[in-house]
Amino acid sequence: VTDDITIRFDPKPTAADLATFDAHWTGAELDRIYRHSLTHACAYVGDTLVGYVNVAWDGGVHAFLLDPTVHPSHRRRGIGSGLVKRAIEIARDRGATWMHVDYEPQLDHFYKSCGFRDTAAGVLKL
Ligand SMILES: CC(C)(COP(=O)(O)OP(=O)(O)OC[C@H]1O[C@@H](n2cnc3c(N)ncnc32)[C@H](O)[C@@H]1OP(=O)(O)O)[C@@H](O)C(=O)NCCC(=O)NCCS
Repeated sequence: VTDDITIRFDPKPTAADLATFDAHWTGAELDRIYRHSLTHACAYVGDTLVGYVNVAWDGGVHAFLLDPTVHPSHRRRGIGSGLVKRAIEIARDRGATWMHVDYEPQLDHFYKSCGFRDTAAGVLKL
């Protein structure tokens, strides 16, 4: 991550902050997400939010990486992988043993660069 970027943990950005990323949660939806979050990490340039990732938790050994997003004008500068790696460290410190993620094939290189390895997994839309 480049020098002008600051990473903060659990700052609870508002729905308006996150809408600049095309992430359209309501305040009530975000409150629920934060209640189930083991940690979330945000990247800032000054006070401007430029990156976000959330880690949900089962309360035991399993943590789930969700919604990593970097503002389009700040991509490919190491912010996304920097956020994910720092969130993984915090999740480990807070008691998780396994970090899970699922993603589309074109992001394979991104997640490998964050330390993930392949496994068989499944997903189902409810
Ligand atoms: C995916 C995303 C978070 C990556 O953020 P980023 O800050 O651009 O990523 P980084 O600069 O840290 O990239 C780390 C590595 O992954 C690669 N990478 C990043 N985005 C990639 C993409 N879309 N396709 C292929 N490789 C990608 C980078 O080239 C880099 O490789 P290198 O280390 O060999 O140079 C960002 O593109 C994004 O917000 N996308 C839209 C939301 C999204 O799809 N999120 C994932 C949901 S599962």
